[in-house]
Amino acid sequence: MTKPILVTGGTGNIGSRVVRMLREADREVRILTRRPHSNSPGVDYVSGDTVKNRALAEAVAGVDTIIHLAGGPRGDEVAAANLVAAAQGAGVEHVVLISVIGADRMPIGYFRRKAEAEGIVMGSGMPWTILRAAQLHDFVLPIVRTLSTLRVVPRDLRFEPVDGDQVAARLTALALGEPSGHVPDIAGPHVEEARDLVKTYNQAQGRRRPLLTVPLIGVIGRAYRSGANLGDASTMRGSLSWEEYLMRQTGALLAGRD
Ligand SMILES: NC(=O)c1ccc[n+]([C@@H]2O[C@H](COP(=O)([O-])OP(=O)(O)OC[C@H]3O[C@@H](n4cnc5c(N)ncnc54)[C@H](OP(=O)(O)O)[C@@H]3O)[C@@H](O)[C@H]2O)c1
Repeated sequence: MTKPILVTGGTGNIGSRVVRMLREADREVRILTRRPHSNSPGVDYVSGDTVKNRALAEAVAGVDTIIHLAGGPRGDEVAAANLVAAAQGAGVEHVVLISVIGADRMPIGYFRRKAEAEGIVMGSGMPWTILRAAQLHDFVLPIVRTLSTLRVVPRDLRFEPVDGDQVAARLTALALGEPSGHVPDIAGPHVEEARDLVKTYNQAQGRRRPLLTVPLIGVIGRAYRSGANLGDASTMRGSLSWEEYLMRQTGALLAGRD
């Protein structure tokens, strides 16, 4: 009998898709979440907290693989350290970590903490796989909405938004395979100027809005201008474009755009 797979963050955007895919692959899943949930067939929940170091021993007991997706704007390095400490010596054979493209290059706290979390997993002594992903379409959408409302876009700000299902499918395949170390990043299909993302969004909404372009300043501006947040030639490319994603979100609105 196979052991359950622990998915931290299994209630989140990426995690809930991974859980669905693991269940489709007939694997038992344990989800670590801060909130209480009722178990369902093949899925049991442990109520705990990676940052507050609560119930992690219970979460890792009897699992052979951990997919660590719990994360947020703060505390990712603390969460990774706590989880690794709980998992060491518990018979875990594979830790899969999601990280972000540019983790080691972007001068922003969130990225730095992701790089620290990577280092903690790499030094854990447990076999590991790390996948760096670009921002999901779902993550970029609220940013684009805000820029559309403000009618302002930073110049030289580029994203390569990617489909959440494709990131989840990749994580699931990696978790069901052998530990692979750093695997190629996943992003795209396309690198897009923020301005173009907002324009396409406005068109999808049937709006024509002038956009004021403002420069990105300081070290963060330089990093974005240099593309430090973007993948490279080795990056695995998704297939759902921003435009196709918006069409899914907004029905056929884009069909009539000029
Ligand atoms: N979305 C993106 O564009 C993107 C891109 C690259 C990398 N990532 C990374 O991928 C991971 C998942 O992202 P997502 O978009 O799926 O995030 P999300 O939808 O915000 O979900 C976050 C998940 O983390 C759990 N969580 C947060 N803090 C926790 C804590 N202290 N203890 C236990 N669980 C905690 C939440 O569970 P409960 O609320 O149920 O406790 C939730 O399941 C994150 O590490 C994120 O940084 C995301």
